[in-house]
Amino acid sequence: MFLFFGDLWYYFRWPNAKRSEEDARMTMGTERIALGNTDIQVLPLGVGTWAWGDRGYWGYGKSYGEQDITEAFVVSVNKGITLFDTAEIYGGGTSERLLGNLIRQTKAPVVIATKFSPLPWRLTLGSLPQALDASLSRLGVETIDLYQIHHPYSILSIEALMDALADAVADGKVRAVGVSNYGAEHIRRAHAALAKRGVPLASNQVNYSLLKRTPEKNGVLDTCRELGVTLIAYSPLAGGLLTGKYTARQRPSGPRFFLSAMTRMECIERVVDTLRQIGQDHGGKTPSQVAMNWLIAQGNVLPIPGAKNRKQATDNAGVLGWALTPAQVEAIDEATRSWR
Ligand SMILES: NC(=O)c1ccc[n+]([C@@H]2O[C@H](COP(=O)([O-])OP(=O)(O)OC[C@H]3O[C@@H](n4cnc5c(N)ncnc54)[C@H](OP(=O)(O)O)[C@@H]3O)[C@@H](O)[C@H]2O)c1
Repeated sequence: MFLFFGDLWYYFRWPNAKRSEEDARMTMGTERIALGNTDIQVLPLGVGTWAWGDRGYWGYGKSYGEQDITEAFVVSVNKGITLFDTAEIYGGGTSERLLGNLIRQTKAPVVIATKFSPLPWRLTLGSLPQALDASLSRLGVETIDLYQIHHPYSILSIEALMDALADAVADGKVRAVGVSNYGAEHIRRAHAALAKRGVPLASNQVNYSLLKRTPEKNGVLDTCRELGVTLIAYSPLAGGLLTGKYTARQRPSGPRFFLSAMTRMECIERVVDTLRQIGQDHGGKTPSQVAMNWLIAQGNVLPIPGAKNRKQATDNAGVLGWALTPAQVEAIDEATRSWR
């Protein structure tokens, strides 16, 4: 009798349980998440704008220009992707200027993330409010949503920098504070210093992709999870290598050619093949979409792929609204474990 009711319960419950698991996977990435413990809500995908205006590394003005990035911006906001990551140093300020122009042309609630670079000649804390004012002016806004310290290498201590950031929050010039390229211990110090001022550390932006799985090994991912800090994954396509368009015979041009020359392209082709096969099970998702869907599946991870044009922005937006099965997450983990 007991078994009978047990079986009956299982019989009625199982199809629903299965359906709700599928529903959850279909809607994954369509709900907004908070950036750390802040009130800033975004989809779990942003757009990186390093290439917007950068001629030296990315070749702005050659194969793509202002019209292309305008279209990338419009496609992204139309898909509900509102987080745009820039930095004062991208294109010597051009990325901030271009983003500022685009923001003025939309009613979409764009979330601006930019960065202060603690350059070696910035020897005093006064450099931070000065750089912040310059970023505000280039962007043409009164408040920056997420202001990040670009890297931890500076003569200025982490505690002093966090104090200056907390002052900027108190002044109303910054809504939330983030860091970038911070190791586990750096994150703890930044988090503790800000906590003294009642400001949460919203995010840490680090290099994280299927070809760069260091954050899983060096404690950064675990520390972010423990402290409620969102891990923003930069170069989530490994600078384009995970898109599948580059091979040992077809390498990227410019400075990336030399970087790819130091990379095991044949191994990357095998990874991309796995991603392509798995993408077929989801109606032909591209390797890029599968690679970034895997990052989101790790939890507390928000990729910010760079997009140079409408085609790339459209493809990248297709990361959202579906999810890999647990078995596929595991298979990709297995296929890229040597990149940890
Ligand atoms: N905090 C830091 O220190 C730091 C460092 C690096 C980057 N970042 C941030 O992270 C963002 C993203 O990183 P990233 O730009 O270095 O690398 P990425 O996102 O891994 O790769 C971007 C490049 O891949 C290609 N691409 C992108 N989407 C594509 C698609 N769907 N199909 C085909 N090709 C595509 C484009 O270049 P091609 O068309 O030329 O191949 C694009 O410029 C940056 O824009 C920046 O905001 C931060």
